[in-house]
Amino acid sequence: MLFNKLGRNDSCWCGSGKKYKFCHEEFDKKVMAAKLTGHKVPTHKMIKTPEQIDGIREAGKVNNAVLDEVAARIKPGMTTLEIDNIVAETTKKLGGICAPLNYEGFPKSVCTSLNDQVCHGIPSEEDVLEEGDIVNVDCTTIYKGFYADASRMFMMGEVDEDDRHLVEIAHEAVKVGIEATKPWGYLGDIGQVVSDLAKANGYSVVREIGGHGVGIDFHEDPWVSYVTKKGTDYLLAPGMVFTIEPMINAGEPDVFVDDENDWTVYTEDGSYSAQWEVTIAVTENGNEILAW
Ligand code: MF3
Ligand code: CO
Ligand code: CO
Repeated sequence: MLFNKLGRNDSCWCGSGKKYKFCHEEFDKKVMAAKLTGHKVPTHKMIKTPEQIDGIREAGKVNNAVLDEVAARIKPGMTTLEIDNIVAETTKKLGGICAPLNYEGFPKSVCTSLNDQVCHGIPSEEDVLEEGDIVNVDCTTIYKGFYADASRMFMMGEVDEDDRHLVEIAHEAVKVGIEATKPWGYLGDIGQVVSDLAKANGYSVVREIGGHGVGIDFHEDPWVSYVTKKGTDYLLAPGMVFTIEPMINAGEPDVFVDDENDWTVYTEDGSYSAQWEVTIAVTENGNEILAW
């Protein structure tokens, strides 16, 4: 809880070394006001310091460079294991660590999710990228102790118009989510614009899997749903860092987890699914994209 008994001349809880009255006192008043009207409010732990945000930004640069390398080399005929190798090698060369490897038992360095795979696809020698495929490459880098998480879609050669549209709308969904990310707004504002856009295009949004706080750890609070309503869920405050990563299905929203590998999520109806992901910080005036 953010309420505290700090004196106005005490040094601020954020660790800036500044007096509370010159630092987070106004911030805490806004938070308390939201809390009194029944909103969920961020804990101190969810508020990153400027130094921490600098660290996440640096991790984001490495993560972006890794995704750029994938973008330059991915092509039909390649296996998803080759994507894994590109990610592992490039990350290492740049001084980073691939967060997925061994994360809760995940066996590879990156997630590669093809067509009706929603997320958490495991790179494999057996999965060859074919002309017409859509594939998500989800990359998370640890650099100097900080985490950045982002993913992009890639289209293999000539892709059906319908599938191309799905990929574009999933991209657009992240863009409208970014625009809705504002200090003193609400997390639900993001879910509202994302689900409105998906619905307007005849698509659905996966409910069970969402975004997350990120930076000091891979998955932190808050959990970020994309089927929420405007003005609900957590108050957004400067210093929060989380991902926007809605999974958009061409068909129904229902999904299941592969019971052999216990990781890969598929659409129940076999329809294609697309996802882009950014790591974003809430700032005093709006937001800053730290990884994409
Ligand atoms: N990068 C994914 C996310 O966006 C998480 C992958 S967990 C892993 O949250 F273990 F599969 F890598
Ligand atoms: Co993520
Ligand atoms: Co990710």
